[in-house]
Amino acid sequence: MKLAKTPVVAVLAVFLTLSAITGHTTENKVAVASAHPLASHAALEMIGRGGNAFDAAVAIGAVLAVVEPAGSGLGGGGFWLLHRASDGFETMLDGRETAPLAAHQDMYLDAEGRVIPGLSIDGPLSAGIPGVPAALVHLAEHYGKLPLSASLQPAIRYARDGFIIGERYRRLLSFRLPQIQSSPAAAAIFLDNGRVPDPGWTLRQPDLAKTLQRLADFGAAGFYAGETAEKLLKSVKAAGGIWSQQDLDNYRVVEREPVKGTYRGIRITGAALPSAGGIGLVQALNILTEYDLTAIDAVTRKHLVTEALRRVYHDRALYLGDPDFIDVPVSRLINPDYAAGLRSTIRKDRSLPSVMLSGDIPEQAGGDNTTHFSVMDGEGNRVAATLSVNYPFGSGFVAEGTGVILNDEMDDFDSRPGAVNVYGLIGGLPNAIAPGKRMLSSMSPTFLEDDERIAVLGTPGGSRIISMVLLGILDFADGNGPDSWVSVPRYHHQYIPDAVQYEPGGLSSEELQGLEKLGHRLRETSYRYGDMQALQWHKREGRFSAASDPRGEGLAVIRND
Ligand code: DON
Repeated sequence: MKLAKTPVVAVLAVFLTLSAITGHTTENKVAVASAHPLASHAALEMIGRGGNAFDAAVAIGAVLAVVEPAGSGLGGGGFWLLHRASDGFETMLDGRETAPLAAHQDMYLDAEGRVIPGLSIDGPLSAGIPGVPAALVHLAEHYGKLPLSASLQPAIRYARDGFIIGERYRRLLSFRLPQIQSSPAAAAIFLDNGRVPDPGWTLRQPDLAKTLQRLADFGAAGFYAGETAEKLLKSVKAAGGIWSQQDLDNYRVVEREPVKGTYRGIRITGAALPSAGGIGLVQALNILTEYDLTAIDAVTRKHLVTEALRRVYHDRALYLGDPDFIDVPVSRLINPDYAAGLRSTIRKDRSLPSVMLSGDIPEQAGGDNTTHFSVMDGEGNRVAATLSVNYPFGSGFVAEGTGVILNDEMDDFDSRPGAVNVYGLIGGLPNAIAPGKRMLSSMSPTFLEDDERIAVLGTPGGSRIISMVLLGILDFADGNGPDSWVSVPRYHHQYIPDAVQYEPGGLSSEELQGLEKLGHRLRETSYRYGDMQALQWHKREGRFSAASDPRGEGLAVIRND
């Protein structure tokens, strides 16, 4: 067993528990990388109990809902990309939130048609109908070997008994403090006497433990009906939200065919709509495939990647939305000939201002949240899952007596054509709000495969998710491993704002000068962003490697025997 980037305490914890669980057999082979050591640990526990990667994914997702409440949870949604080893079947579980039936296109606008600040981000009016509980049940029932009651055990334990918070928790809580303070149930759980808790504080969530137990006992009905549903609806309605029992009854997980593409001998399996991830990645790689990025100089490489991203995010705004509500020309967008047309507009000696693609639009800040995990077992079953409540601690609102923090994923819709969301993303009618519709996402759980290797990867990071995963894929194509993919310095372009955003250290001074000369505007972000979790299977050697982003507090663990 090898552990990557981990505090000593976490290493010890994993060693001790593993030796207590089981001896080493090939069935115990596993690799996992997640944003929290306790979640990675839960995966090992499931494998130790005879579960597969899908059981491990249920346990990881549920534990993250407890130990990383800022990032994801039962009140949120997500996408789970699955590969089943027995028959090679691949699918994406779409557990994205849906707009409530009482939602309408102009619900966040004032009488003059202007977006009302905060309304789609704070409080229950910003919350879509959660998909995570239904998806956990679906994953356990259709793909797992263990009962849901077993795979939810670690999460119930950590909710009931508590765990010691990390620095990330404190930082994100400080960022959302006013919203948390305005929800009495949230404040009672996450704050210590109304304040951000000191380091070393233990977070206990007894109501969440009971909500998880009802899910374990009754399946989806344990959340979308009965006591949990009653409590959710009562609180949401009392605080001005618009959820109804019909919304909860209607919620369905959808299995969607992943988006597939190839890049220089690498097969890519990416997220389907309503995520823009798979389409965006395949489109970018189709544009870039004619360049030898490994051989090319660093400035030209970054210029070309930027120009590809500019065109990808432009198409995202123009065409993408929930495929159950609008027609999206997916096969055209991922067609290599279409990419060749886009490539023909790229000059190596000059950037193309985004205004040439369309009008100029105001800019907004990015976020730092959501969660990704990657897990693969010794049989070859694998899961890449990106889960979210959107903004840190979602809407900041907890429904009384449930322990469930509600998402603010409604902000991922386009409240008004041409308006930008909290990640500065622009869009239009394809992603307008409609009752029951799923909001467009950037979450990009991804599989890669060539003759030698299989990779599972993904990251949080709002609008920057697609560019981060793209940089990871290009690094895989350069022949590097997970340690490198999760660490590569990051830069990003999303069409609007028309600037290359880069994390501190993301571009060298030579690259900055070179890109500026080509006409790019450059903007350094105030912090290093992303929290990529990745693993790799080496086919010939029959062994795993894995890594957790050095920017986060996660843990990668492999067992190769
Ligand atoms: O689905 C999406 O694209 C966003 N709700 C994800 C949000 C996210 O990654 C926040 N992290 N910075």
